[in-house]
Amino acid sequence: MSLLAKLDLPVRNKQSELTDDMFERLRSFVYKKTGIYFQDNKRYLLESRIGRRLIALKLSGFPAYYELLLKGGMNGELKDLVNAITINETFFFRNLPKFDLLEKELIPEIVERRAGEGKKSVRIWSAACSTGDEPYTIALIVKERLQRKFPQVRFEIAGTDINTQVLEKAKAGIYGEYGVRNVPPPMMRKHFKEDGARFQLSPEIRKMVKYHHVNLSDRVGMGRMRGVDLVLCANVLIYFDTQAKQRVVSSIYNNLNPGGYLLVGFSETLYGVTQSFQPVRFDKIIAYKKG
Ligand SMILES: C[S@@+](CC[C@H](N)C(=O)[O-])C[C@H]1O[C@@H](n2cnc3c(N)ncnc32)[C@H](O)[C@@H]1O
Repeated sequence: MSLLAKLDLPVRNKQSELTDDMFERLRSFVYKKTGIYFQDNKRYLLESRIGRRLIALKLSGFPAYYELLLKGGMNGELKDLVNAITINETFFFRNLPKFDLLEKELIPEIVERRAGEGKKSVRIWSAACSTGDEPYTIALIVKERLQRKFPQVRFEIAGTDINTQVLEKAKAGIYGEYGVRNVPPPMMRKHFKEDGARFQLSPEIRKMVKYHHVNLSDRVGMGRMRGVDLVLCANVLIYFDTQAKQRVVSSIYNNLNPGGYLLVGFSETLYGVTQSFQPVRFDKIIAYKKG
């Protein structure tokens, strides 16, 4: 009998520890499937989030979990893992200068170009939209400010994410105070219904955005988003390494119509990632244009 058993102490199951080898395997699996790369200093995060899955699934340890991941496709355990490990922080009117630029410069330019080509639609895509705050911000701007200016234009707005839970929340359109704190008061009064500390977005705005489950690192899935004029891909590529960023940015490039724009997050840059786009400097923002 082992000493631990004699002392009647809990025998720590070796399998429940995340070994270096298992960390490497899990990290590489997540990276290959999603583009998200867990740096060594984020190991604790991967360990604790997967730890929760182990408990939920009553599995013996990380090796058993890894086996399970290998067996399933995107709709298997990987879906739940992705839902557990992604960071979904977002809010309405995040990075105000970006929405200002979009309203006053980029969309009017795109509308003019499309009209010149005899097209009536403008397609806008919020890639990695989390709970929908970003695409709904665009919908609010379109509804309140742009549709009047361009009555002939059909604005089509899409929101995509890899996390199925946030997409469900996006469709429901119910937000807390934190999410809506930057919404201008007149828009707030007109388009949100207050229910205690929750705010329900009006069906009129909700129906302006179509949501799809798209993994930025899946070329086939990305291929379904062809023919867009403006892409917002903010605060997601920061979790990817350079190679994964290059793959995503190249898919986005292929999806954009000529003359279309890509906008990234406030402190993000595509310097060193791509040379395909033409960087266009506006007052506070660099927009990436497909020539
Ligand atoms: C921090 S949120 C950013 C939300 C919004 N773009 C913004 O700037 O407020 C990052 C989002 O990226 C999503 N994400 C992470 N990896 C992804 C991938 N490979 N494909 C699609 N979405 C991904 C996450 O699920 C999360 O909702």
